[in-house]
Amino acid sequence: MIQDTAAFADRIHAAFDFAGQQLRHLITTQPDFFPMYTREGKWKHGGEAWTNWCEGFLGGQLWLMFTYTGDVWWRDQAMRYSRLIEDRKLDNTVHDLGFLFWSTWKRWHEHAPEDFIHDVVIAAGSTAGSRFREKGGYLPSFVSQESSFIDIMMNVGIIFYAARQTDNCELWDNAATHCLTTRRYLVRGDGSSAHEGIFDTETGEFLRQTTHQGWRDDSSWARGLTWAIYGFGTAFRFTEDSRFLQTAEACAAFYLEHTPAHGVPPNDWAEPNPTHPHESSAAAIAASAFLQLAEITSDSLRAIRYQQYAFTILDTLLGSGFLAIDTPHWEGILMQGMYHQSKGLGVNESVMWGDYFFLEVLLDALHILSGRQAYGGARPAC
Ligand code: GLY
Repeated sequence: MIQDTAAFADRIHAAFDFAGQQLRHLITTQPDFFPMYTREGKWKHGGEAWTNWCEGFLGGQLWLMFTYTGDVWWRDQAMRYSRLIEDRKLDNTVHDLGFLFWSTWKRWHEHAPEDFIHDVVIAAGSTAGSRFREKGGYLPSFVSQESSFIDIMMNVGIIFYAARQTDNCELWDNAATHCLTTRRYLVRGDGSSAHEGIFDTETGEFLRQTTHQGWRDDSSWARGLTWAIYGFGTAFRFTEDSRFLQTAEACAAFYLEHTPAHGVPPNDWAEPNPTHPHESSAAAIAASAFLQLAEITSDSLRAIRYQQYAFTILDTLLGSGFLAIDTPHWEGILMQGMYHQSKGLGVNESVMWGDYFFLEVLLDALHILSGRQAYGGARPAC
């Protein structure tokens, strides 16, 4: 438990100052470049991307820097990086448009409620929803039509939003059906989650659980579980369907039970003696997801526990083993992240989404520490 909240807030402000330096350096030395993960701490390298899901996280960090500082230089950069991805609003080849547009154009719209910005958010949500498969009742992953990922739970929020704003009941029902399908087939009775579900595309029958980024098909890839805690929480915020809150809390209970006291999980809890024992991006996502859960749970004791746990994670991530503040020449913000272990991509590195969710949860923490008087709007409104 954090005893000295003033000192804790000072550490968060120092982390924001550091993040500002890192981001300013990145966008001025490598303008219009969209990095995904570092290699030995450097953003620019020729490493494989696997898929294109990260292009919103740099713009998203710039919006968070604007929210934190109020400095229009950050707003102008954030607008530039948001505009650079606008054409992706019609990209139906990936399942990730929520990652791209919730972090950028949705934040932009909250700062400037103008129609042309709103239209982009709606278009992205509608495109994401258009991937829905009636047979099986799910949104497929980019890998193939037979595959669905736990990660997609982070992309249903923008579909619910587009459906609500356009009174599109079919779009809304499809998003809700995807959440129920994911809950049934990708989340297990013990609150752990599978990375991928495979369906029969002819009949829609669910066939098996598999993984790409986890240790085994039947284990729980940590970041996938954090996508579930966050994503089901968001699904509850939109729908008020208690099944989604229950699922988010079951996944949160698994995370709490299996993660060391400092709050940072390995890439997968089932991996024996991992060479790199920490996946900091999962921890940053978890911290933000736990703060969201603290707001939406109906149990006041659990709400306190979730908030304290999120602060414990932040306390750890603000330490010099994770925050790159004392690591000269490291270009990311948070170290010890992991993208794709089995492919050898971004292993023990900084990752764009880790830095994004870290700033999001830092902002939310400041909002809470200030008695909710300052720094509102860390998480986009539903
Ligand atoms: N593709 C989403 C992730 O790596 O978490």
